[in-house]
Amino acid sequence: MGVNFHISPGGSLTGRIRVPGDKSISHRSIMLGAIAEGVTKISGFLEGEDALSTMNAFRAMGVVIEGPHHGHVVVHGVGKRGLKAPQTIIDCGNSGTTMRLLSGLLAGQGFAVTLTGDDTLLKRPMARVATPLKLMEAHIDTQESGRPPLIIHPVNQLKAIDYTLPMASAQVKSAILLAGLYADGVTTVVEPEITRDHTEKMLEAFGYKPEVLGNRISVDGSAVLKATTIDVPADISSATFFMVGASIAPGSNITLEKVGINPTRDGVIKILRLMGADIELLNESSVGGEKVADIHVKYAPLQGIHIPEELVSLAIDEFPALFIAAANANGTTILTGAEELRVKESDRIQVMATGLLSIGVKATPTPDGMIIHGGAYHGGVIQSHGDHRIAMSFAMAALTASDDITVIDCQNVATSFPGFDQLAKTAGLKISLS
Ligand code: S3P
Repeated sequence: MGVNFHISPGGSLTGRIRVPGDKSISHRSIMLGAIAEGVTKISGFLEGEDALSTMNAFRAMGVVIEGPHHGHVVVHGVGKRGLKAPQTIIDCGNSGTTMRLLSGLLAGQGFAVTLTGDDTLLKRPMARVATPLKLMEAHIDTQESGRPPLIIHPVNQLKAIDYTLPMASAQVKSAILLAGLYADGVTTVVEPEITRDHTEKMLEAFGYKPEVLGNRISVDGSAVLKATTIDVPADISSATFFMVGASIAPGSNITLEKVGINPTRDGVIKILRLMGADIELLNESSVGGEKVADIHVKYAPLQGIHIPEELVSLAIDEFPALFIAAANANGTTILTGAEELRVKESDRIQVMATGLLSIGVKATPTPDGMIIHGGAYHGGVIQSHGDHRIAMSFAMAALTASDDITVIDCQNVATSFPGFDQLAKTAGLKISLS
């Protein structure tokens, strides 16, 4: 049975909270820890279903992994060639990152493996990874129109390529770089726009530094990874719901502790500041090559803006929440250049527009974005379409609605933010579950 959120309007967000660990970094810590030599110790690991899907996949390939226990995980690395053929199909659940990064990492292992997922993941495009991997002489099949399951046939050695990505995607970039660790030379990926660079940063933490020249990133197939210690920062994408909630709810004053503010992920801070948000970064430091800070947010009236396109890939997961900020802003907010939102856990342009319209917000979806006129809105029933970020965004929208909001189908919030309802309640959101 599905989980639904019920949120009453009013209240503000206050106090000091720590949101769960970064999802992107948690996935990569298991993947690189598994193929490194030695024992990797991870703290702050996201105990969400997506990261657990990655963990289960490596256990199925013979990697001994202890935990997670209060965010602590120990990965007994088997080295680059130590993975074993799994005895069953690997289920990536709802996690696109698991499927896409594994497709690259497993393409040159020399064993057969099938990657599948839940109903949502089975609808997401995989040709974007299969096409470059085939150029690397991987033998990989997708289903009709490039959808999963992905069937990887045994190939021992891949061919190095120089590949220009047709879209800004850190998952596709990472899949090719991970495949490049099994190629016969130097593999280069060229990005049309900068995307999150956690794979590159974490390879360096594991003792191998990829060459980065502007938007060209190269790895050598001879790279060897050495176990390390990883402290996963809190996820800026999860912190976003509280940044937006605090910005729109009068009286809010909240601090989000030890959040990753990697410059390839901080678009949300820049966009909210352009809208007039009151956001301060405190106690800035660096952990394992990743920048971290406490984020202090106070209520401030927001203004509509045309979101600069160069910030889109740096805030790609934050638009559902940013649309709620726009609905609360004075004037019009315009997003363009964000067609990738249509192929996330849901079509986030359409699903957000439908939800916003149903509570009385003037929202117009466009092929690559949205136009939102800020103003008062009422309550209603929102279909999240099983998309965690849609569910949490509309939960925050209730802070300033004139009536209750019910969000249907919220069980997938646990993919990225287990315990969201409890933490949000502690901070002041009037939320209950059914
Ligand atoms: C991710 C990359 C992004 C993002 C996803 C996580 C990653 O996807 O939306 O939540 O960890 O590399 P795309 O690469 O499809 O943009």
